[in-house]
Amino acid sequence: MKHGKIYWENRYKNNSTGWDLGHPSLPLTHIIDNLRDKNSKILIPGAGNSYEAIYLIESGFKNVTVLDIASQPLESLKKKFLLNDNLKTVQDDFFQHTGKYDLILEQTFFCALETRFRESYIKKCHDLLNENGHVKGVLFDFDSQRTEPPYTGNKEEYIKLFEKKFDIIEMNRCQTSENSRKGKELLINMKKK
Ligand SMILES: C[S@@+](CC[C@H](N)C(=O)[O-])C[C@H]1O[C@@H](n2cnc3c(N)ncnc32)[C@H](O)[C@@H]1O
Repeated sequence: MKHGKIYWENRYKNNSTGWDLGHPSLPLTHIIDNLRDKNSKILIPGAGNSYEAIYLIESGFKNVTVLDIASQPLESLKKKFLLNDNLKTVQDDFFQHTGKYDLILEQTFFCALETRFRESYIKKCHDLLNENGHVKGVLFDFDSQRTEPPYTGNKEEYIKLFEKKFDIIEMNRCQTSENSRKGKELLINMKKK
């Protein structure tokens, strides 16, 4: 893997974390505000500093797992939530992770993976979800020829990839994107087939 553990550890060490908003993103808080079941098992893969996990806990969610291959963001999260049983941190490669969840929250993790791993990401999400489980969140929606993350894409491409394993309930231009991402994100809601 071109961008493995060492690559991501170094990004945190060198403070090269341009993706980090410093607060829970508006589209994700909007999704979270509309979730009904506070006992839902929620996974945030490639969670980074995971402000959304803190938002989930503060909103009363009781079963949140954040997963990241890099140690630094998980360590700082643990310091903030040292004694909170509702929040679990796992340092692991997403593709090695095992478990079952009702919801996977996606934000700038899919685009962190080289495009050749996209089908594996979708299969892994499918495997990690319970029956009727969902992937919700945002995907970047613009074409680029980058050799470093974020690896972007477009709606047509994503539909072709996801529809094999998911019913696409929503994949539309996100109306609540942060200013720096306006017009560049799709809001997604996909249900496991
Ligand atoms: C672009 S950052 C996004 C972080 C966070 N989702 C956010 O929105 O701020 C991508 C994150 O994915 C993590 N990551 C990359 N590859 C991974 C893998 N195979 N398994 C788990 N985490 C991974 C990186 O360490 C990094 O924290």
